[in-house]
Amino acid sequence: MTLSLGHVARLGRAGTVFAREGVLALIDPRPLPPAMRLALRVARLIERPTGAGAAVRLSAALTQLGPTYVKLGQFLATRPDVVGVALARDLESLQDKMVPFPQAEAESAVAAALGRPVRAVFASFGPAVAAASIAQVHRAEIATAQGRLPVAVKLLRPGIERRFRADLDTLDFAARRAERHSAEARRLRMVEAVDTLRRSVAIEMDFRLEAAAISEMAENTRDDTKFRVPAVDWDLTAKDVLTLEWVDGTPLSDRAALEAKGFDLTRLARALMQSFLRHAMRDGFFHADMHPGNFFVDDHGRLIAVDFGIMGRLGPKERRFLAEILHGFITRNYHRTAEVHFEAGYVPPQHSVESFAQAIRAIGEPIHNRPAEDISMAKLLTLLFEVTGLFDMRTRPELLLLQKTMVVVEGVARSFDPKLDMWATAEPVVREWIERNLGPAGRLEDATEGAIELGKTLAGLPALLGRAAHLAEQLDIITRNGLVLAPETVAAIGAAEARRNRWMTAALWVIAAAVAWFVWMGYRAM
Ligand SMILES: Nc1ncnc2c1ncn2[C@@H]1O[C@H](COP(=O)(O)OP(=O)(O)O)[C@@H](O)[C@H]1O
Ligand SMILES: [Mg+2]
Repeated sequence: MTLSLGHVARLGRAGTVFAREGVLALIDPRPLPPAMRLALRVARLIERPTGAGAAVRLSAALTQLGPTYVKLGQFLATRPDVVGVALARDLESLQDKMVPFPQAEAESAVAAALGRPVRAVFASFGPAVAAASIAQVHRAEIATAQGRLPVAVKLLRPGIERRFRADLDTLDFAARRAERHSAEARRLRMVEAVDTLRRSVAIEMDFRLEAAAISEMAENTRDDTKFRVPAVDWDLTAKDVLTLEWVDGTPLSDRAALEAKGFDLTRLARALMQSFLRHAMRDGFFHADMHPGNFFVDDHGRLIAVDFGIMGRLGPKERRFLAEILHGFITRNYHRTAEVHFEAGYVPPQHSVESFAQAIRAIGEPIHNRPAEDISMAKLLTLLFEVTGLFDMRTRPELLLLQKTMVVVEGVARSFDPKLDMWATAEPVVREWIERNLGPAGRLEDATEGAIELGKTLAGLPALLGRAAHLAEQLDIITRNGLVLAPETVAAIGAAEARRNRWMTAALWVIAAAVAWFVWMGYRAM
C-alpha cells in the first residue's frame, strides 16, 4: 500500500509538470470518457501560458522530470507505431543535455570504479566536456613511454541506476493499471514498452557492453577506408567507467568548422549513408544513434563514431531482405522485391506475390519519376512497412530500428547535401553485397528465372489469351485474399488514422486506390 502511494505520488508529480508545461493541452479530449475529460479540464487550470509548440512543451516537461523521462521520450520517438507519427516527430528534437555532476564526485567515482585514486591512474583529469542523462565525458591524459596520451573518460552518473529503477517501477505500475482498465493501453502493450525501455537502459548503463560493441565494430570495419572507431582501453574500463582513445576531429555537428576546414560536405554525406548501409547489410551490426553529435571527421576526411550505447543487429535473413529490397527498388524489379518478403516469411503465404508486387510498384514507380532530391529512402521503407501491414505482416523490431536509424542518417546526409541522390549513393553498397553474397549463384538464379519466364510466355500463347488468363487469375487471387478495400485493409487504414498519422493515412489510401484501379483496368482490358 505504501509502495503504491509512492508510485501515485511520483505520478502526481509527473502529471503536475505535464499540466504546468502545457503538455495536456496536446491531448484530444474527444475520445475520452466524460470523467477523464473533466479531469483533464481541471488539470489544465494550472497550465502556464505559453506560445510554444508541442515539441518545445514536451521537452521542457521531460527535462524537468529528469533522466528517466528524457530516455522515455527518446525511446518513444523511435516508436511511431505506439505513439503516432506526429508525437514521435515532436519527441525527436528532444535533446539529452544535463548539468554535469561536480568534478569531485566524478573523480571519486573513477577512483571507486578503478580501485585507485585518480592521480595514480591519470596524468591529468579535466572537467566534463559533455553531460547527458546517463553519463558524462571528461578529457584526461595517461602517461605512457611515448609521453602523455589523451583519452576520453565516460562516467556513469552517480546514483542513476537507483533513480531509473524507482522511476521505471512507477511507470510499470502506471502501465499495469492502464492495461487493466483500458483496451487501448493493452493494444499499445504499455507494460511491454516499459520493459523494453528498462532492458535497453540497462544495456546502456553497462559500459563494458559499450566497450564490447566498439571492439566488435572495430573488427568489422578494419578495412573500411572512410569510417573508424576509437580504440578501447580495457584496463581502464569497468561497468561504470569507459576509457577511449581521445578523438581529435571536427564534430560532424559543427558545420561551420567543417566548411572552414574545406571538407567536401557531399562526400561526407555519401560516406555517412554508405557506412550505415554497409554496416547494416554486410555486418548486420550498426550504430543506432547516428545523430551528428556522435560523429567526428578526422584530417583525412574519415568519419569517427562515438557513443555505442544503442546498437542494431540484423540476422542473415534481415540483411538479405534489406539488400534485396533496395536492389529491387533500384532496378525497379518489384516482383523480386515482393518475393523477398515471402521468402523471408514476412508475409503469410496465403497472399499472392503478384498482388503484393503490385502494391510495391505503387510505392516505387511514383518515386522513380521524381527528382533525386525528393526521394527519401527512409520514407520508402516506412511506406513499405505500412503496406506490408495490409498483408498481415507484422513489422519486426530489428527492422523498425533500422528504419528509424535510416531516418536520422538520411536527415543528416540531406542537411549536408540537399540534392543527395539516395539511389546512386546506395547502389555501390548494394551491388557489393549482391556480388559477394549472390555472386555466381545469384546469376544462376537469374538465368533459371529467365528460362521459367520464357517457358511461361510460350505456354501462354496466344499472347492475348495468356494475358487475359493471367489477369483473371490475378483478379481471382486478389478478391480471394480480400486485398481491395477488404475489411482488413480498411481497418489498417483506420488504425493509422486513429494514430493521427495523416501523411501515412493519405499514402495508404492512395495505394489502396491505386491497387483497386489496377484491378479495375485489368478487368476492363479483358
Ligand atoms: N573518444 C572521444 N573523444 C572525444 N570526444 C568524445 C569521445 N567520446 C565522447 N566524446 C564527447 O562526449 C560526448 C558524449 O559522449 P557519448 O558517448 O555520446 O555520451 P552520451 O551517451 O551521453 O551521448 C560526445 O558527443 C563527444 O562530444
Ligand atoms: Mg552521444
